[in-house]
Amino acid sequence: MYYGEYLKLSQLLSSQSPRSAEIGSPVHDETLFIIVHQAYELWFKQILHELDSIVGLFNADQLSQADLGLVLSRLDRIIKIQKILIDQIEILETMTPMDFLEFRDLLSPASGFQSVQFKLIENKLGLLPESRVKIGNQDYKHHLKPADQAAIKTAEAEKSLFTLVEKWLERTPFLNIEGFHFWESYREAVNKMLAADVERIKSHPTMSPQGISGSLEQYKRIESSYNSLFDAGAYDKLIASGERRLSQKATRAALFILLYRDEPVLQLPHTFLRQLVDIDHNLVSWRNRHALMVFRMIGRKIGTGASSGHEYLKNTVERHYIFQDLTNLSSFIIARSALPKLPTDLRSQLGFYYTDE
Ligand code: HEM
Repeated sequence: MYYGEYLKLSQLLSSQSPRSAEIGSPVHDETLFIIVHQAYELWFKQILHELDSIVGLFNADQLSQADLGLVLSRLDRIIKIQKILIDQIEILETMTPMDFLEFRDLLSPASGFQSVQFKLIENKLGLLPESRVKIGNQDYKHHLKPADQAAIKTAEAEKSLFTLVEKWLERTPFLNIEGFHFWESYREAVNKMLAADVERIKSHPTMSPQGISGSLEQYKRIESSYNSLFDAGAYDKLIASGERRLSQKATRAALFILLYRDEPVLQLPHTFLRQLVDIDHNLVSWRNRHALMVFRMIGRKIGTGASSGHEYLKNTVERHYIFQDLTNLSSFIIARSALPKLPTDLRSQLGFYYTDE
């Protein structure tokens, strides 16, 4: 094997064709613009490679402890790549808005919005088509070529990581042990915590009466959010209004994992849930960072893909969360010292065991 042949460098390195050079007035910075985008697409490819394998493992009937270990290491790789993707924006920012304007019109109507791999990553993670911010009131696939639309439709029809994780959480054992009234004890602990918080607000030494009533209103919302954990009807209403997506059963399982993360058997599941939140947050950070760069480059001009530009991108930062229900679980956390004690039987099930099998 020869280095350049193995890596197909002649193809890779002859794939940069600045449009400005093609029309006879080369612009120096267009090469950077192309290479940065290509580097992104290569990393997107690697993320999809990892994601497909993770989805494959979750698609099996059972996920063994060893498989979960593999999932964790692949998610960790995705998280590390995402950090590079966020940092990489700085390189493109060495190009000034004026230099960009020298070739920007030559790109129209192409846009990063047409990055199929980016859309596939979002779909495979679990972003729903109906949650997407629309451009010109049209479905997001409308802006793509037919072959790309087909690839995206296939991904939309497959089970996303979100759906598979939801099913996995719903299968969590330990939650229905006879004689263990975890939820009742948990609810008592939550009520105590909320009552103490409300007292603190009411007797706050520096808050104005309006400030106090505003905070108390907010507490009512937190209270009804807690109540939805115990009331299936109330939870269904939150699902119908779009405030929640993860099923009540899966949410309760995730909360249990979060609360009892110190138990040996729950440590990997807890790390896994944290990684999903990390991936979501890194995606949001990238969207934010990209939107800021776009504002710096083109101000309030519309994008080459015909969106409102910075405004559209800002909306995606707010709306394109995937695992927000997992992030939200922090609202339901109580102090370690207030945690209901697990029955001895259950605790021993949550320990590590070594057998000859
Ligand atoms: C000068 C640099 C850049 C500018 C001015 C810019 C501008 C924009 C704008 C205005 C949009 C909204 C769609 C539209 O109307 O075109 C967009 C979307 C997008 N851009 Fe960029 N972009 C730049 C660099 C990049 C880079 C380096 C990437 C890396 C792949 C990228 C990936 C994307 C993606 C994936 C979207 C779709 C985002 C979404 O729909 O959530 N962009 N870009």
